[in-house]
Amino acid sequence: MRRILYVSTMSSPMGDAELEAILEVARAHNDAQAITGLLLVIDDVFIQVLEGAGDTLNQLVAKIGDDPRHRDMTIVSDIVIETRDFSGWSMGFERMSLSRLIRANRASRISQEWRMFLRSPASAISLWT
Ligand SMILES: Cc1cc2nc3c(=O)[nH]c(=O)nc-3n(C[C@H](O)[C@H](O)[C@H](O)COP(=O)(O)O)c2cc1C
Repeated sequence: MRRILYVSTMSSPMGDAELEAILEVARAHNDAQAITGLLLVIDDVFIQVLEGAGDTLNQLVAKIGDDPRHRDMTIVSDIVIETRDFSGWSMGFERMSLSRLIRANRASRISQEWRMFLRSPASAISLWT
């Protein structure tokens, strides 16, 4: 199995309904293909972790990369894994604005993962690399 993490940017601003539409299709497809993962949206940036069998992942990443709703997809990491970090999640999801994240952090109302993200996106990303 492999775990891939990529970042990309929305082609144009997206509302919650548009993100929900992506998730609905993604979850159904990922369930059927034994793909698990997480999609984080911070302002206009996507950070997605995808886990699954190598061939299946290759096809999915190619398809997602062709999706005109985002651009500048950059694979941050691609590693071989023995166990999943997101088993049971056909696609987890969280959307945050950076300003809300910063305010929540000041009030100590964010999880350890998000706090780590604020400290350094690179160290948060390293959670999955
Ligand atoms: C940021 C982003 C993440 C996506 N993640 C997934 C995903 O995890 N699984 C998936 O099947 N489709 C995902 N999609 C949607 C695919 O690009 C594609 O539209 C969808 O799989 C439907 O493909 P089909 O028309 O070939 O059925 C994502 C799209 C975007 C923009």
